[in-house]
Amino acid sequence: MLAIATRVPDHGRLVPWRFIVLEGEGRAVAGDRLDALYATQNPGLAPDKAHMWRDYLLRAPVTVVAVSRPDPAAKVPVFNQVLSAGAACMNLVLAATALGYSALWLLKWPGRDPDAAALLGVAPHETVAGFLHIGRPAARAPDRPRPRLDEVVTRFKP
Ligand SMILES: Cc1cc2nc3c(=O)[nH]c(=O)nc-3n(C[C@H](O)[C@H](O)[C@H](O)COP(=O)(O)O)c2cc1C
Repeated sequence: MLAIATRVPDHGRLVPWRFIVLEGEGRAVAGDRLDALYATQNPGLAPDKAHMWRDYLLRAPVTVVAVSRPDPAAKVPVFNQVLSAGAACMNLVLAATALGYSALWLLKWPGRDPDAAALLGVAPHETVAGFLHIGRPAARAPDRPRPRLDEVVTRFKP
């Protein structure tokens, strides 16, 4: 799955992304550290939220943290590099799905807060593109209404 995630369009071959795998015991350790930071950031946090990030990370057997690391000094626009990171995330989702697993792409507080992300090994110049939670599907989720194609597709008329 990770090999497929690395096979994405990458303008300039800059490899503007990387992956941090959270698995096994490391999930609980990372979750405990996130909970401790969350408690300092949210004084008076309700007791039932004390272990929320530990529980969050333990829900899936593997979580891949996709990290965007564009090079601002490169000739390739940063936007192109960030899109490549998004493509890597989507490739991971597709690879997992094709192999019969379920994958969920989320970006909650641990990915959005720089101090929380740092606890997972994300550097200050990097940004989390997504947490890809991967496991065997507990149930088949019902699909939701999708945009109608005629609302999102137009044809260029010369
Ligand atoms: C970058 C990114 C971050 C996301 N973060 C969240 C999130 O924090 N919470 C959430 O409920 N959905 C989030 N989503 C949406 C879910 O990934 C998505 O809705 C879910 O996988 C269901 O798939 P569907 O949109 O095809 O129904 C995010 C999507 C992207 C692309």
